[in-house]
Amino acid sequence: MTDVLDGVRDHYRSPGLTERLKTALMALGPEDQRLTPGQLGALDQFHTRGLAATAELAKLAGITADTSVLDVGSGVGGPARFLAATYGCRVTGVDLSEPFVDAARYLTERTGQSGQVSFQTASALELPFDDGRFEAVLLQHVAMNISDRARLYREIRRVLKTGGRFATFDVVSNGGEPHYPVPWARTPGTSFLLTAAVTRETIEPAGFRALVWQDDSEAAKAWIVQLRASGPPPSPNLGVVMGPDFAQLSANLGRNLMEGRLGILTAVFEAASINT
Ligand SMILES: C[S@@+](CC[C@H](N)C(=O)[O-])C[C@H]1O[C@@H](n2cnc3c(N)ncnc32)[C@H](O)[C@@H]1O
Repeated sequence: MTDVLDGVRDHYRSPGLTERLKTALMALGPEDQRLTPGQLGALDQFHTRGLAATAELAKLAGITADTSVLDVGSGVGGPARFLAATYGCRVTGVDLSEPFVDAARYLTERTGQSGQVSFQTASALELPFDDGRFEAVLLQHVAMNISDRARLYREIRRVLKTGGRFATFDVVSNGGEPHYPVPWARTPGTSFLLTAAVTRETIEPAGFRALVWQDDSEAAKAWIVQLRASGPPPSPNLGVVMGPDFAQLSANLGRNLMEGRLGILTAVFEAASINT
């Protein structure tokens, strides 16, 4: 288990990330100038279809100003900042990667949201929160890095109130072997893809009832076609976060989706009473 987590940490270790972000963000204005979450969209939404996917998932999850939200595997914090800015809710993010958490805090200071959005370094398999602490949990493009899925979904259920929402947006296996490297794993050693059906079979016994179940593979493919036609997004983009090989990782994700080796799943669950 520790070996796997170390491998995942290594994949997202990104040395000097905050300093690199500071330099890259000079293109948007001086250090003391407040940025909007929207201005960071090309570098802080680390998943297929970027900001549009986060916006759709939040809507499906029924987030409001009163929802206390946990973003598991929060990356550099883009989804958390977007939710707080759009709905006025409080968001806590946890991530395994310390450099990502540092970067998330720095970017959140730059958007002036530190009073509403906070980040901690922690494993999704051992969330540092009391039972029933949150009304919604988001999990976007994280599960594919986690081998012990049953434990992941049990932990998410534990920190949710009964009746709360678990919204997940993840890459799933369609049965074919993916081409590596991909954005979440440079080798198969840190990639733990399940099919959509097995994902559901693993989530429901943890104490969840499905409310939304959507195959988003076609929308993801349309996004890939559009990206290929328009070229790389304007700088600063996710290449600053993941390093010079990001273009190759991203191209392989596109190839895997277009060849039908991988798919994209959106699902929202209600946290059922544990005793039923
Ligand atoms: C592809 S990024 C997605 C980041 C963010 N959810 C987003 O959509 O912008 C995957 C993230 O999951 C985190 N992660 C992977 N395994 C984790 C674990 N066991 N516990 C916590 N975070 C984890 C990584 O460090 C990385 O930040």
